[in-house]
Amino acid sequence: MKILLQSPRDEHEAWRAALSAALPAATIVAWPNTLAAPDYAMVFKPPPELFAGTRPKRAIFNLGAGVDALLGVPTLPDGIPVIRLEDAGMAPQMVEYVALAVLGAYRESHEYAAQQCEGRWRPRAPLPKSQFGVGILGFGVLGQAVAAALAPFGFPIRGWSAARKEVPGVESFTGISELRPFLASSRVLVCLLPSTRETRNLLDKANLSHLPRGAHLVNVARGDIVVDEDLVALLDEGHLAGATLDVFRVEPLPSNHPFWHHPKVTLTPHTSAVTVIDDSVAQIVGKIRQLELGEPVTGVVDRSRGY
Ligand code: OXD
Repeated sequence: MKILLQSPRDEHEAWRAALSAALPAATIVAWPNTLAAPDYAMVFKPPPELFAGTRPKRAIFNLGAGVDALLGVPTLPDGIPVIRLEDAGMAPQMVEYVALAVLGAYRESHEYAAQQCEGRWRPRAPLPKSQFGVGILGFGVLGQAVAAALAPFGFPIRGWSAARKEVPGVESFTGISELRPFLASSRVLVCLLPSTRETRNLLDKANLSHLPRGAHLVNVARGDIVVDEDLVALLDEGHLAGATLDVFRVEPLPSNHPFWHHPKVTLTPHTSAVTVIDDSVAQIVGKIRQLELGEPVTGVVDRSRGY
């Protein structure tokens, strides 16, 4: 079996070692070396040149959960399944990141940090939990893991997804007609949507204004879902109390971007959930075994839908 590998952060040697341990008979070639017709390609945000000279025979594995960058590669060959990672060690990281942001918003850690800087001792009245709805926008594997982890804290939890998902303890919303009622009940909005034609710029002023006054946005999905200037305007007007942002339209975030020094923005450099090599290799190798037996696998991307 022949595999072409182009890994996140150019960690080819660590990926190669994990893959060779699981598939000792495989020939693994790491980009920029290439193979004209590997059985499988494993890629992360590949440059267009990668597919100019190669056509994988069986499948292309995306070494991340979001496939927007891969589907945007103009040379991506048609007619070959694209398979994305599902959780593969990312869900626990996402849970930690989002729980920290949601609990920080609920316990007003930003406000208390500001008070400490000013040397002010001023207890704030606790917010009633019943009014602190957590809305998870994008309710797939990661969104459901976040909902399960937050359930014990007792916040009302709502999930919005393109196709309705019934999960016990979670109020389910679907479709564009239910987006605004969903937003209106979300004191914290956690964005976990894929970036597609339908979701790009979805969180603009018109939609974000439906969040209740004092709401907080957590974006751990893709930067292009949020209209940056609309978010800044709503933070400045005081309609939104804060934003925790891990993803941006342009990464690294340009040094002159207003998010950097905005007092209501907490930002991190796209680290909420990174690909874990061992878990990812175990998942991919399991799927290769199923494909070799002619069995169906999960995580196959619907290219027309964009995720
Ligand atoms: C991913 C990411 O898509 O790292 O997995 O953003």
